[in-house]
Amino acid sequence: MRLAIAYNIKKDTEEGLPEDFYAEWDDMDTIEGVREALASRHEEVELVEADAGAYEKLKTLKPQLVFNMAEGFFGESRESHLPAMMEMLGIPYTGSAPLTLALCLNKARAKQILSYCSIPNPEFFVIESISEDLPGANFPLIVKPLYEGSSKGIRDDSIVRSPAELRCKVSTVIDKYGQPALVEEYLEGREFTVALLGNGEELRVLPPVEINYSALPAGVNPIYSYEAKWILDRPETPLDIFTCPAKVDAELEGRITETAKRAFHALGVRDWCRTDMRLDSGGTPHVLELNPLPGILPDPKQNSCFPKAARAGGMDFTTLVNTVVEVARRRYGI
Ligand SMILES: Nc1ncnc2c1ncn2[C@@H]1O[C@H](COP(=O)(O)OP(=O)(O)O)[C@@H](O)[C@H]1O
Ligand SMILES: [Mg+2]
Repeated sequence: MRLAIAYNIKKDTEEGLPEDFYAEWDDMDTIEGVREALASRHEEVELVEADAGAYEKLKTLKPQLVFNMAEGFFGESRESHLPAMMEMLGIPYTGSAPLTLALCLNKARAKQILSYCSIPNPEFFVIESISEDLPGANFPLIVKPLYEGSSKGIRDDSIVRSPAELRCKVSTVIDKYGQPALVEEYLEGREFTVALLGNGEELRVLPPVEINYSALPAGVNPIYSYEAKWILDRPETPLDIFTCPAKVDAELEGRITETAKRAFHALGVRDWCRTDMRLDSGGTPHVLELNPLPGILPDPKQNSCFPKAARAGGMDFTTLVNTVVEVARRRYGI
């Protein structure tokens, strides 16, 4: 097949932007790793940077299928931009449609749908402006930007324990990220992330990954914060932060798996997705968010949940990337 990869490449952060502005974008090693994996099974694999010229490039190139890993530039629907172009051009692409990508990026919208489908998720409210009265709530709470990923805006101090801390953190999120703050009930139970691959009846759940908070230095809060993901865990000094397969009994694994699948279908996800979950004090898995454009680092030495879960399920990186293409082709019937 003639394939193209659509991506956004990490850049140095310009003056005036938050230091984590490009955290979600991929580096060249990742894009090259995906290209190599696809090139091992396909005759042609073009690289297309998903910038403002992407539409014209893809219109000229007319690939038979696009492997979509483009996170997009600006706004709460940025992950939908490239898939929307593909739909206008009639080019098949891997992964979810614009609606699902936009819904999952706006965590509150995703949570409304999860709640409608009776899928447990933490209680929440959204604050648009710091001049609003903050609702009364039981502490601790966690404050996050409404539409970010890759732990952007989630810091060790994002857990707040008083109205004053809440106000301060909400104000930081609104000012720094230029978007509303999502405030959630803080769940202190075990955390898992679950990789799913496929569609419909053929949806496959890979072995769950547990986030192992005992790997963090003493005094650091047990959340997968920006510090945990990008500062404490470095390729030269990796943290032993993921346990996969998670050590869970069959009953808990069943509940985690079932919740992840229900969330996948509720949001209309296609082909692949990683769902983050945390247990409440009664041991019930709650969905924190869905990642329908999951990060994939090719180097097994680097911590990357989806490839790790795939390896535990017997799939190396090359097989994983090509399986995403295969499930998309089956969905399109091409
Ligand atoms: N309601 C919550 N209760 C407990 N921990 C949470 C909650 N929401 C987020 N976290 C912690 O913060 C991390 C990042 O939050 P998440 O919503 O997954 O953001 P991102 O899109 O940046 O991955 C989670 O992996 C978890 O450790
Ligand atoms: Mg997450």
